[in-house]
Amino acid sequence: MKFFIDTANLEEIKQANELGILDGVTTNPSLMAKEGITGEKNILKHYTDICKIVDGPVSAEVISTNYNDIIKEGKNLSKLHKNIVVKVPMISEGLKAIKYFSLNGIKTNCTLVFSAGQALIAAKAGATYISPFLGRLDDISSSGIDLIGQIRHIYDNYNFKTEILAASIRHPMHIINCAELGADVATCPLKAIKDLLNHPLTDIGLDKFLKDYAKGNS
Ligand code: E4P
Repeated sequence: MKFFIDTANLEEIKQANELGILDGVTTNPSLMAKEGITGEKNILKHYTDICKIVDGPVSAEVISTNYNDIIKEGKNLSKLHKNIVVKVPMISEGLKAIKYFSLNGIKTNCTLVFSAGQALIAAKAGATYISPFLGRLDDISSSGIDLIGQIRHIYDNYNFKTEILAASIRHPMHIINCAELGADVATCPLKAIKDLLNHPLTDIGLDKFLKDYAKGNS
């Protein structure tokens, strides 16, 4: 399973990258705004800065909602760096744009996916990745994890190459459940990635090993 970090914070991206397990980055307009990155020029520069840190796919989201503008914006984004993946919302104009991009060698991440039907048509259109939002489904008492299993089943039935990029991940169990179900990618906040590392028995065991070593050497 590939690990992406879901943030526009350069410091967090560097930290995750230094762990040696980072495969890519996803962002969205809200994550950009959270870091105070506003205005087209600054946003484009920020994508380039992210690409300098991580050698892997970096999702850059379009803010246009009609076909012609999505195509224009997506083409501009894709020219920023070879690793840019154009993130397109799951709307009919977006679906048509995904088809265009797939026919023209531009990688896409179909975002805001909340149902198996949406995942199916995004794959038909040739999306490189689809992003089902687990946490936001859980928030409305629906099961995000069940959706991942459903999409995996459908994609395997037809050998779709579209990668399932589990998004809106809130905690380490989301990541474990995604791995069990065969999601191709999990995009996570830094905290969820770091929380995978922790176990109290590891800390207790290490403490004892170090104390016993010290006894033998005193
Ligand atoms: C996906 O790419 C989105 O950026 C993200 O995972 C949304 O997460 P949220 O529901 O925590 O905002």
